[in-house]
Formats: sequence, structure tokens, C-alpha cells
Amino acid sequence: MKGFHCSLLLILALVGSLENLNLGCSAADPTDGFTPVPLTEANFELQKPYNIPLNERYSYEDGIRHMWVYATDKPHDPNSRTQPRTEVRMKGLDYTSGVWQFEGYGFVPNGTSGVTVAQIHGAAEDASTLILRIYDGNLRYYSGDLVATGLYDRWFRLNIIHDVDGDWVTVYVDGEQKYSTKGRGPGDFYFKCGVYAAPRNITYYMESRWRDIKIYKK
Ligand SMILES: *[C@@H]1O[C@H](CO)[C@@H](O)[C@H](O)[C@H]1NC(C)=O
Ligand SMILES: *[C@@H]1O[C@H](CO)[C@@H](O)[C@H](O)[C@H]1NC(C)=O
Repeated sequence: MKGFHCSLLLILALVGSLENLNLGCSAADPTDGFTPVPLTEANFELQKPYNIPLNERYSYEDGIRHMWVYATDKPHDPNSRTQPRTEVRMKGLDYTSGVWQFEGYGFVPNGTSGVTVAQIHGAAEDASTLILRIYDGNLRYYSGDLVATGLYDRWFRLNIIHDVDGDWVTVYVDGEQKYSTKGRGPGDFYFKCGVYAAPRNITYYMESRWRDIKIYKK
């Protein structure tokens, strides 16, 4: 199919003027067939340790959202017993059906480990359908399966596709499919990114940076 497509492009190019035609025939992009959802700053809700002003754990400059947290920080809510976090919670785009996609460019400095950097919040019984954690520069599904390696100190493109009706999740790093797994049942879902300390193996300081966050759907 792809070979045919490329041959056709080549013929069209030869028959045509040869100008301005891209003959790259590149592999499919994770966003192919998806429609971007318009976002405003109101779609980016920040969660941070409840007793600290936002600007002590978050900055937004030159399009880069910089989030950090310490192992000894308080949870995001005085009534919560969860681990400390500074996270963007995509707001106003909660979903219960369809096929949704998160895209963002992330950066995690060496020195940050044992921390969730992106998640699909919501599941039939658990709090999440997907947790992506950095441990020693590698990205893992929760604390288990290896998703991608060697991510410290560089920007990487992350795409997460959630097919709710098919109960399936697919993860792409730098445009390449790296992981896919069954979801965890129906629920009310939304995407998050930032830093949320894991239960174990955490570093004292945890940081991730995000830019060009987009949400798509089919
Ligand atoms: C992180 O930095 C330390 C100190 O420079 C280095 O020894 C280590 O190999 C680095 N870790 C990774 C996973 O790059
Ligand atoms: C967490 O730390 C334990 C004990 O050091 C180690 O055995 C385990 O592999 C670590 N887990 C991850 C996901 O790095």
C-alpha cells in the first residue's frame, strides 16, 4: 500500500513540474487522521503542593512549562494522602468515549528519577489508565515495562493515543510506536503531564519541562 502510494507520488512528480513536491514518503505520523482540539490557557490547570505558591514550583517562559517538586513537599490538597506533584491537568476536555491523543515535547534532567511525567487519569477502578515514569533516564509503564530509553537531558516528542471504546493505549516517542497495552476499563478520563512522585525510588528533586502540548481526537 505504502509502496504503491510512493510510486504514485513519483509518477505524479515526473508527470508534473517536479516543483515543490515532497518525495520523502515518510512513515505515518501518530497524529494522522486526528483533528486538533483548540486549546486556551484555561485548558491548563496546575496542581502543586497546597501550601506553596505556584511560582515556587512552576514557570512558563518562552512556551516552556517548567515544573518541579521535592520529595518532602505536601500533596496538592490538604485532604489528600497522595505523593507530591506539580502537574498540568488538561481541563475542560474530560472524555468518556472516542479516540483521544495527547502530544507534547518533554525534557527531564538527569537527577530526576522515580517520577510520573505523563498520565491518563481515570480508569474503571484505579486512578489511572496509563502512568509513564522516568527511572534513570528510561521511560516505564508504571514501574514495570520499559517504554523508551536514554531520555535524560534532551527534548523528546511524546504521543499517547487512548482508544476508549477499544480499551487500548498506544505510546509513541519521537514519532515511533514504543508501547501499546490494554486500557483499564471505562471511566472519566483526562491527560496530565509534569512531575508526580512515584511511591518508591524517588529522587529528592524532580523536574520535567513541557512545550507544544496539543490534544487531538478522531
Ligand atoms: C547522570 O549523570 C551522572 C553524573 O554525571 C552520570 O554518572 C550518569 O551516568 C547519568 N545518568 C544517565 C542515565 O545518563
Ligand atoms: C527500585 O529500587 C529497588 C531497590 O533498589 C530496585 O530493585 C528496583 O529495580 C527499582 N525499581 C525501578 C523501577 O527502578
